[in-house]
Amino acid sequence: KRVGILISGRGSNMMALAAAAGTAYEIALVASDKPDAPGLAWAATHGIATFAQSPKGMPKAQYEAAIDHTLRAAGVEVIALAGYMRLLSDDFVANWRGQILNIHPSLLPKYKGLDTHARAIAAGDAVAGCSVHIVTEELDGGEILGQAQVPILPGDTPDALAERVLAEEHRLYPQILAAFAA
Ligand code: GRF
Repeated sequence: KRVGILISGRGSNMMALAAAAGTAYEIALVASDKPDAPGLAWAATHGIATFAQSPKGMPKAQYEAAIDHTLRAAGVEVIALAGYMRLLSDDFVANWRGQILNIHPSLLPKYKGLDTHARAIAAGDAVAGCSVHIVTEELDGGEILGQAQVPILPGDTPDALAERVLAEEHRLYPQILAAFAA
């Protein structure tokens, strides 16, 4: 399957997905809403086709049409969101129904949205983790395809926990994407 990855920043999950590309899936394109996203430069230097489109100064429908057009022109069949910090419209989701995956740094359905690690620590949870799920119109709400857990340790800060979770994200996402694409 040809995969298009949407990012907004660092792109460490994108790198993990690219490193595991092979028979199950290949990376056709990396696109970003932030032209200066570090992950975009990494993709370009690693021979992956890239596309940058800032949504600033245009209607959301026009922004998304540009993304959609570029993904389809690249032959993308599956979209993997990897730190893409923008909500996709209901129309976009409907046009790619069941073909968009996301990684979220919590054990969904807990802690949808932002600041997941701080919220897990504040709640006194013993475990945290990450989830790969199908993207639907409901934020972080689609079918869960896989999860990985890590312990929350005494004295954990959100940053320390995020780092522990991120290591699991890098293991989980390629594995789930490969299984999904197969
Ligand atoms: C990850 O923690 C991911 O779960 C969340 O945003 C972060 C993106 O990090 N959605 P990166 O850009 O993949 O390094």
